[in-house]
Amino acid sequence: MTNIIDGKIVAENVVETVKRFTAELTGNHGVQPGLAVVIVGEDPASQVYVSSKSKKAKECGFLSVQHTLPADTSEADLLKLIGELNADKTIHGILVQLPLPGHIDSGKIIQAIAPEKDVDGFSFINVGKLGTGEVDSAFVPCTPAGSMLLIERVRGKDLSGLNAVVVGRSNIVGKPMANLLLAANCTVTIAHSRTKDLPALARTADILVAAVGRPEMIKGDWVKPGATVIDVGINRIPAPEKGEGKSRLVGDVDFAGASQAAGAITPVPGGVGPMTIAMLMANTLVSASRSAGVEPPAF
Ligand code: GUN
Repeated sequence: MTNIIDGKIVAENVVETVKRFTAELTGNHGVQPGLAVVIVGEDPASQVYVSSKSKKAKECGFLSVQHTLPADTSEADLLKLIGELNADKTIHGILVQLPLPGHIDSGKIIQAIAPEKDVDGFSFINVGKLGTGEVDSAFVPCTPAGSMLLIERVRGKDLSGLNAVVVGRSNIVGKPMANLLLAANCTVTIAHSRTKDLPALARTADILVAAVGRPEMIKGDWVKPGATVIDVGINRIPAPEKGEGKSRLVGDVDFAGASQAAGAITPVPGGVGPMTIAMLMANTLVSASRSAGVEPPAF
């Protein structure tokens, strides 16, 4: 029987731990974790993501601050806001929702965030720590960190001897995911749009992570029997069978086909998705704990 990995349950466990430690940190040490989320412009998908991040932060007992800026905000004004948040002692995590409008240099903005408040894990310091195996003191990007927790639930923490294939080489998911798997002793291959014979490569994977943003691209017969399949994709596609103009969410993996072969697989929705926000809460709590000199919980 294929194990359908329930990301909602694992995410809820993470959030429960965050709530418990937040109450302790606030009550016993006088430090309430503070998360500032910044959004520029009106992209509807980004607005949904940002409001769920702010809402979850409140639910965890955090100070939750949201800055909603107009699409024509200048780069200088955004840098000024980041400078203020960097200096603000009540704020332990800063997240600037991507993508930013085209006239703003995202790289410049990301690198302006103080590394010790970079709960997205995108700054050079945090990327470098992860790349050199300093995983414990890094902030790891939330989606790969959450994916890794799901993999650990199935395979344990030590993945020695397992072949992992990560499809996708983005800075947000593919590259940090590969580094996490390497730190856990996998033999890791990163595949991308120029990779030759992707189906054959995918079939070598004991752990297959799909993060390409292409609906149902990974087919059932690309999956090695018994493999752990982690589907990071969230794609909205037309669903005329549900009625005119209706749509549905699918991952980067053909779930019906892949679940025949996989030993364990994440569904979309309800797999990796809920983990991303949970790990953002975890990273913010870790940041606040570090600022208070308190040992953070392990996730
Ligand atoms: N846009 C899509 N995913 C992310 C993420 O993990 N962090 C930020 N800041 N923006 C995103």
